[in-house]
Amino acid sequence: MEDVAIIVRGLRKSYGGSLVLDGVSLEIPRGSIVGIVGPNGCGKSTLLRILAGVEDYDEGVVEVRGRPALVPQETILLPWRTLRGNIMLAAKIRRVPREVAEKRMLEAASILGLTDYLNMYPREVSGGTARKASILMALVLLPDILLLDEPFTGLDRDSIAALQETIARLRRAYKLTVVVVSHMLDELYSLSERIFVMSHRPSKIVRIEEGAGLRFNLRASKG
Ligand SMILES: Nc1ncnc2c1ncn2[C@@H]1O[C@H](COP(=O)(O)OP(=O)(O)OP(=O)(O)O)[C@@H](O)[C@H]1O
Ligand SMILES: [Mg+2]
Repeated sequence: MEDVAIIVRGLRKSYGGSLVLDGVSLEIPRGSIVGIVGPNGCGKSTLLRILAGVEDYDEGVVEVRGRPALVPQETILLPWRTLRGNIMLAAKIRRVPREVAEKRMLEAASILGLTDYLNMYPREVSGGTARKASILMALVLLPDILLLDEPFTGLDRDSIAALQETIARLRRAYKLTVVVVSHMLDELYSLSERIFVMSHRPSKIVRIEEGAGLRFNLRASKG
């Protein structure tokens, strides 16, 4: 039997009486990269926040076997702190020992290509670099499950491809289970081994697709 990192069964969630998630069920194998795709407003971010443990729900089973870290849809970098300052503050708030966080930050920054940007302020870097900094902010929390909410939004084609390769490398380096949410199937297809397709709200999983992720991740692990 497959080792499973996340199990969701019959998940229901509403906001103020208005139903968003109407019985979402899925299983995510440990160590895999999966995608979740669905139209705007169907509840993808809500689902990801529930998996991260920062949002409650009304009904169903949610089992997250491991330590999740969420990279939110909107970047949350404080403008008056450098990237390094932002990242180390996140570690401090979550009580990751300073030396451990520092070591992880430097190591993961080199995989992300962020080493030369750590002393810059958010306004001095591009959107893509800020996006990578918020991924780094999640990685210093030492997660084994990385939850990425729309990581490709606003990036050009080359940057999307580069970020996909980087995500695959991070997964391998830190033995992560990775869940990527997007409203574009194309962006998920090459990276993900499996893609869960959500309906309009009130939403359910309507289809599961095989992605090209297995081949992609093998290639990325050789490169
Ligand atoms: N805190 C909240 N209070 C009330 N309604 C909310 C809240 N958060 C989300 N919603 C509503 O729940 C629905 C799902 O929102 P969510 O952000 O999860 O969708 P999404 O699929 O991530 O959308 P997008 O593709 O735009 O990122 C939307 O109709 C949204 O307006
Ligand atoms: Mg969203």
